[in-house]
Amino acid sequence: MTKEELKNIIMPRHIGIIMDGNGRWAKQRGLKRSEGHKAGANTFRTICDYAAELGIESLTFYAFSTENWKRPADEVAAIMNLFRDYLFEAQEREAENEAKGMRLRYIGDRTALPEDIINLVDTLEARSSDKCRITVNLAVNYGGRDEILHAVKAIAKKVEAGELKADDISLKDIDGNLYTAGQPDPDLIIRPSGEYRLSNFLIWQAAYSEFWFSDILWPDFTTDDLDKAIIDFSKRNRRFGGV
Ligand code: IPE
Ligand code: IPE
Ligand code: MG
Repeated sequence: MTKEELKNIIMPRHIGIIMDGNGRWAKQRGLKRSEGHKAGANTFRTICDYAAELGIESLTFYAFSTENWKRPADEVAAIMNLFRDYLFEAQEREAENEAKGMRLRYIGDRTALPEDIINLVDTLEARSSDKCRITVNLAVNYGGRDEILHAVKAIAKKVEAGELKADDISLKDIDGNLYTAGQPDPDLIIRPSGEYRLSNFLIWQAAYSEFWFSDILWPDFTTDDLDKAIIDFSKRNRRFGGV
């Protein structure tokens, strides 16, 4: 998208992307599924940098769901290795990311991840500046239902401790206890790969999101596709229940 085109467009503040179709992409080429994930990780790098250039305030990339542990152990290990590689790379690129005004955040249940990954995530988040223009959320071992359960438990503990009355629990309490606390809800959710479902992605936050589906498999997804999704989004009439 040119700068001129961008000016006339209503940009989404927060875009969520379900990075799906890596396995089918590999199969089409007679490759192992892990090769598809590797290609998908490279697409993630390209799209993440491009969206940051466009000035999208929040980006959430769904990389591994709480249900994806059902997959063969070698596939899970390959995905974790790619995540680990990316975290090391992000550590090396910290100054560069900071200069770009970009910070990384993790969303999901980190306790089930390999210990070295937990440590990498923790240090990266601790060092990532709060004064950033762009937040990139990496959703790994993320599930919307798990996130809501986690929030409910945190709220229940406050009630148990006598800090909050059950009748006073508000939508703000729920929002504030989600992994995405403090961030805007996704305006636009993109799902490639020809599937038309959320697969447990941001189910609370997606109440009024606009959806953009495409048959493209994630490793083939380009910056032009992101432009198309944003342009389509800018033509939607969002009413939020109003007239
Ligand atoms: C998305 O690609 C990556 C993860 C879910 C980890 P898939 O691996 O689901 O690819 P398909 O859907 O089998 O093509
Ligand atoms: C959703 O893809 C999860 C991620 C892309 C991380 P899946 O491939 O796991 O979703 P289903 O099983 O087709 O619904
Ligand atoms: Mg899939």
